[in-house]
Amino acid sequence: MTVDLDLHHHAPPPKKKDYRIGAIGAGFIMRDCHLVAYRNAGYHVVAITSQPPEQAREVARLRGVPTVYNTNEELIADPSIEVLDIAVPPNFELPIVREAVKHAGHIKGILAQKPLGTNYQEAKEIVRLSREAGITLGVNQNMRYDQSIRALKTVLERGYLGEPVLATIEMRAIPHWQTWVKDLGKVTLLNMSIHHLDSFRFLFGDPKSVYVSARSDPRTKFEHQDGIVLYILEYANGFRAAAWDDVWAGPAREGGALVPRRLRRNHGDAARRAGHRR
Ligand SMILES: NC(=O)c1ccc[n+]([C@@H]2O[C@H](COP(=O)([O-])OP(=O)(O)OC[C@H]3O[C@@H](n4cnc5c(N)ncnc54)[C@H](O)[C@@H]3O)[C@@H](O)[C@H]2O)c1
Repeated sequence: MTVDLDLHHHAPPPKKKDYRIGAIGAGFIMRDCHLVAYRNAGYHVVAITSQPPEQAREVARLRGVPTVYNTNEELIADPSIEVLDIAVPPNFELPIVREAVKHAGHIKGILAQKPLGTNYQEAKEIVRLSREAGITLGVNQNMRYDQSIRALKTVLERGYLGEPVLATIEMRAIPHWQTWVKDLGKVTLLNMSIHHLDSFRFLFGDPKSVYVSARSDPRTKFEHQDGIVLYILEYANGFRAAAWDDVWAGPAREGGALVPRRLRRNHGDAARRAGHRR
């Protein structure tokens, strides 16, 4: 078999790059990921806000965003803004989308973070509101756009691996955790498993049934149910996809407890460069 190594691992570029973007939220994902990526890609972020707005002011200075609004309402009402990038804890997404759809005349698109709302009903409501307003809604399920997953999709579609029988993901890590995880008492399913489930659906389609087994994690001290999560997706044709998500919500510097004392200084520097926090 001839294998074509052009695996289409880069997502195709957008038709138009000069949309005027308004950013809501100024935390980790906005400050260290989106605003940096937008700048590198030549996109135009014209305004930012956060609650409270001090963080937005600091991030605007750091990343060169020209305008800071004190409230979400003021930013959303700016008639020059065409795309909203909403990167706030999921319990604030629905109220922001409710406000945004009142301005469907100038807002053409919304990028919302995963998870979309805190539950299925909120997610459906956000989809309904956006659709009825004629606003294109994208959810930042970014794992399916990861180069490795895009390459794997091409490999599967071209049949290089034959008929898929079993796919597995095993995650043992302490990712970047946000405070909302604690506030909502939800640890793994909405925050990490959501990426794996989305990738399985992207690669293999929708399963016939899903078996989930979750337990609390004694290393995580706040009340929660889904500390360690195992799941199996059962497909009609016999295919199975399964993941073990063992992700600890701390508090800890990621991996810090395991680093020998003589290496700790370098590790701390590396973690800071990578944007990790407690
Ligand atoms: N796609 C990914 O891989 C990925 C990675 C990290 C975070 N996220 C998602 O991004 C969202 C934010 O995560 P983060 O790590 O940036 O959190 P963070 O806690 O670092 O930042 C949250 C930001 O939201 C702002 N905010 C809170 N309530 C607000 C409100 N009502 N109106 C306006 N701004 C408000 C805060 O001021 C802060 O700037 C979460 O939903 C998270 O799941 C996604």
